[in-house]
Amino acid sequence: MTDLQRPELLDAARHDRSRFDSGEPALDEWLRRYSGQNRRRNTAATWVIATPEDRVVAYASLAMTAVDRSAAPRTVARQAPDPVPALLLGRLAVDREFVGLGIGTALVAYVLATAVELNAKAACRAVVVAALDAHARTWWERLGFHAFHPDDPTDTDLYLVTSEIEATLRRLGD
Ligand SMILES: CC(C)(COP(=O)(O)OP(=O)(O)OC[C@H]1O[C@@H](n2cnc3c(N)ncnc32)[C@H](O)[C@@H]1OP(=O)(O)O)[C@@H](O)C(=O)NCCC(=O)NCCS
Repeated sequence: MTDLQRPELLDAARHDRSRFDSGEPALDEWLRRYSGQNRRRNTAATWVIATPEDRVVAYASLAMTAVDRSAAPRTVARQAPDPVPALLLGRLAVDREFVGLGIGTALVAYVLATAVELNAKAACRAVVVAALDAHARTWWERLGFHAFHPDDPTDTDLYLVTSEIEATLRRLGD
């Protein structure tokens, strides 16, 4: 971890995305082909962690979203408008060469800290993620995210209420 750069916004001209390989072709393709396009169209911002040589080893995409209040858990829906404002962590991937080093967790922690800043400027009730599959759902739950439908093992939509973030960051920092 010590040799990697701090999380920063993707710079399409500087960052090398060509070798990124998370083992999930759809996530790799999105980084290579669509992250710049989404930035230009203001539909998603991409945060990356790169080597000192600017090779991207992890990325997360962020966008504003809204959650249907009638389908939301109580902590998300309570005294909120419909739909409920939220921040979408749309994609997260770490290059296979770098997994298991805490990079994914570090990037999520950075995004959560960003959510606190955004919440102060343009309120968002929760951070929501769409986990890739049931396996990935477990990974998010380990970080403190809750499934929208915990009793349904196939449900891959998760959330963390913004008011929980501080405690989550403290726990991740331990
Ligand atoms: C999931 C992913 C982002 C994790 O990134 P990472 O940098 O390896 O994660 P970290 O190193 O921060 O965390 C690894 C820890 O999670 C644990 N872990 C890994 N997969 C897990 C899972 N499915 N369920 C529970 N824990 C899991 C590891 O055992 C390790 O635990 P430890 O810290 O106690 O040793 C990465 O493997 C990846 O990009 N996978 C392919 C894409 C994907 O699944 N994305 C998920 C988001 S939709």
